[in-house]
Amino acid sequence: PTRVLAEENVEPPKPTLQPILTVSIRRGYQVYKEVCAACHSLKLAYRNLVGVSHTLAEAKAEAAEIEVEDGPDDTGAMFTRPGKLTDRFPNPYPNEEAARAANAGALPPDLTLMTKARPDGQNYVFSLITGYCDPPEGIEMRGNLHYNKYFPGGAIAMARNLYDGIVEYDDGTPATTSQMAKDVTTFLSWAAEPEMEERKLLGLKGLLLTASLVGLSWYWKRYKWSLLK
Ligand code: HEM
Repeated sequence: PTRVLAEENVEPPKPTLQPILTVSIRRGYQVYKEVCAACHSLKLAYRNLVGVSHTLAEAKAEAAEIEVEDGPDDTGAMFTRPGKLTDRFPNPYPNEEAARAANAGALPPDLTLMTKARPDGQNYVFSLITGYCDPPEGIEMRGNLHYNKYFPGGAIAMARNLYDGIVEYDDGTPATTSQMAKDVTTFLSWAAEPEMEERKLLGLKGLLLTASLVGLSWYWKRYKWSLLK
């Protein structure tokens, strides 16, 4: 029998995230795509956006914007095609050498686990991308390094990327530097651990359940032993 790929008919999963989070993730995706993705990679597939920040049709449209090399086809040739939901976000560089060559020797790290990999990761990423300023008196930055007091050592190869208004949000939110930084940090935190909200909710339910069981067993014990005293 032919296998029917009923993608069109599949309802997106019920969102488990708070609406206030999903709109921020959506804006953060836009910042990632329009700013960070020029140099950084992220291990997500377009299908991961469905039901979180984008509808099925929107995620498909996002995927279709990229070109993917595929093949070999029946004649053994490679070809390019528009992206599909199952494709991953594209890497900006083919390999580490190309990435370093484009960034004066520095390697822009993959951002997938960045909010987990650094201590206090979410605050770190937010502070780092909003924390550029002039170096203190008497300190001179070498070559292509930029002063950022949140980066260990204070000299980072990444220049400031976020400036007020460099993206235009489709929900009308003013794209200030801190708004974009907050949104992209929210997006990256979700990307690092998509199931976190669900996991914590389950944890809370577990705590409530065990707490009520403790109360019940305390009462049950008093009740059973009351005659024996
Ligand atoms: C490093 C985030 C855009 C180039 C980093 C780091 C983070 C980060 C968290 C790691 C710092 C660490 O290792 O602790 C972001 C975000 C961006 C963005 C959220 C978008 C808003 C860009 C762009 C470029 C770039 C557009 C290239 C023009 C680099 C480079 C490094 C780096 C070269 C390595 C720095 C070093 O090791 O000195 N970025 N980045 N980044 N980023 Fe970005």
